[in-house]
Amino acid sequence: MECVLAGGKLQRSRTAFLGETRAAQSVLILGEGNGRFLEAFRRGNASARILCIDSSEQMLLRARYRLLKSGIPLHGITLTVADALNCNLPPGAFDLVVTHFFLDCFPPEQLRPLIGAIANAAQAKAAWLLADFQIPARGMARYRASAIHWLMYMYFRRVTRLAADRLTDPGSHLQAAGFVLNGRAVSDWGLLRSDLWRRGQATSRPSPPSGR
Ligand SMILES: C[S@@+](CC[C@H](N)C(=O)[O-])C[C@H]1O[C@@H](n2cnc3c(N)ncnc32)[C@H](O)[C@@H]1O
Repeated sequence: MECVLAGGKLQRSRTAFLGETRAAQSVLILGEGNGRFLEAFRRGNASARILCIDSSEQMLLRARYRLLKSGIPLHGITLTVADALNCNLPPGAFDLVVTHFFLDCFPPEQLRPLIGAIANAAQAKAAWLLADFQIPARGMARYRASAIHWLMYMYFRRVTRLAADRLTDPGSHLQAAGFVLNGRAVSDWGLLRSDLWRRGQATSRPSPPSGR
C-alpha cells in the first residue's frame, strides 16, 4: 500500500536525517512497523544496540524477515512486542530515539505522557528523529493535506481501532522535555515532515523546507 500510494516518499522522510545517526550506540525505535527504517539504519550503523518496540507481532515478524532477506544479522537488535503506553523503558538509556509515523496514532491526552516517558528513557544529549504527516498553514496545500488526513484517519480508525482522530503536533511536548528542533525537511506539498530534535542544545536552527 505504501509503494502504491506514496511511491517512496515516506521512506525518504524516514531517512532524511539518517546521516546524523552514524555515531548512535543505543537506539530506541518505537512503532517500527515492518522494518523499513530499521534496515536502512542498520546498513549505515552496524554497531548500535537497537531496541524496536511495536504492539503488532505481525509487524515485527515482517521487520525480522526483511532483515534476514537483506542479509543483515539480527545481532544487537531486539524486537519486542509491547504497548508503548504501558512499557517500562530504562531511564537515560538511549542516545537516539526514532518515532516515524507513530506519534500520530495517539490523541493529545495520551501523547503528552507518552512523549514524557520516551524522553525519560533518552540520554541528556540524545537525538530524536521523527517523520510524520502535517497540515500546511494555508493555500491549496492545506486543503489537499486536510483531505488526505481525513481519509487516512477515517480508514485507520475503522481498520486498526486507532485511538486518535486527528493529528496532534508533538513539538511543544518535545520542547517541554528539553529537545530543540535541529533540522526539518518538508516534502510532498507540505504533507510530509521529517524532524531532527536534539537535547542539550541552546538554540533552534531548523533547516529551510526542502522542495515539493
Ligand atoms: C503508522 S505505523 C508506522 C510504522 C513505521 N514506523 C513506519 O514508518 O511506517 C504505526 C506503528 O505503530 C504501532 N503502534 C501503534 N500503537 C502502538 C502502541 N501503543 N505501542 C506500540 N506500537 C504501536 C503499529 O503497530 C504500527 O506498526
